[in-house]
Amino acid sequence: MIGRLNHVALVVPDLAKAAEAYRQQLGAKVSAPQSLPEQGVTVVFIELPNTKIELMEPFGAASAIRPFLEKNPSGGMHHLCYEVADILAAREDLMAKGARIIGDGDPKIGAHGKLVLFLHPKDFFGTLIELEQA
Ligand code: CO
Repeated sequence: MIGRLNHVALVVPDLAKAAEAYRQQLGAKVSAPQSLPEQGVTVVFIELPNTKIELMEPFGAASAIRPFLEKNPSGGMHHLCYEVADILAAREDLMAKGARIIGDGDPKIGAHGKLVLFLHPKDFFGTLIELEQA
C-alpha cells in the first residue's frame, strides 16, 4: 500500500538556527519558512535528491508539538511520511486491519496542500506515521 518516503519530519527548538545549520554546514537547499496556524507549526522543507526533510518549530501557545519539545528539548525525529495513491482506501484498509487513525479520522490538508492523516505510533513501534495522498 505505501509508496515513496515523502519526508522525514524533525522538531527543532529554533527553526532559523536549524535552517542555517542545514544550509551552511550540510550545504542543503532550504525553503523559506511557512507558518501553518491550523497545524500549530512553522516549517521549512529541505529538498534532497530522493526525499525531503521537514524542520518544524511550534507556532502558537497551543501547538501540538510543544509537549514533544518539552520531552526532547534539543529536538528529534517526529514522524515519517509515506505516500499512498488513495488516502480513503488506505484508511479503510488500515482500520479494517485494526490500526488507529489520530483525531477524527478524516484526512486533512497537509503542508503540501495534499490530504494527509496520521497513524497512532503505538500501532507502529513507537513511530508516528503520516500518510499523504500523492
Ligand atoms: Co509531515
